[in-house]
Amino acid sequence: MTALLTWNESFGVGNAMLDSDHRILFDLLSQLHDAMETGQSREVVGSVINVLAEYVEHHFRREELVMAEIGYPGRAEHERLHRDLESRVRAIRDRWGAGERQVLGDEVLAFLKKWLTEHILGADKAYRPWIESAGGGL
Ligand SMILES: [Fe+2]
Repeated sequence: MTALLTWNESFGVGNAMLDSDHRILFDLLSQLHDAMETGQSREVVGSVINVLAEYVEHHFRREELVMAEIGYPGRAEHERLHRDLESRVRAIRDRWGAGERQVLGDEVLAFLKKWLTEHILGADKAYRPWIESAGGGL
């Protein structure tokens, strides 16, 4: 598999569980890229999108619990960013499910890659000092 995105320490948010989630999201995005590049069927690509959408939601809930636990003051704003990405990913999943093949072009992958990396490097890393004060969080 050609990795579209590879996790490295610069993405570290100070919590092993959240870092591991971020690695998984990078892998899922690379898998999606791969499934498209190699011309997999609508069902196969669709199942990767489903797993990605579910994992995004699962991870966001988990990250929000950590932010609550450490008393991060930027939590409400951060949660708004999560809801926004979730609805974009759901829209992609639904359009693909409805048979729209154009929905998953290079632009969508570039958008997801950019969104995910910028979110981790910006919004996620902003809570790192609170995680550190809490001794790694959870
Ligand atoms: Fe986040």
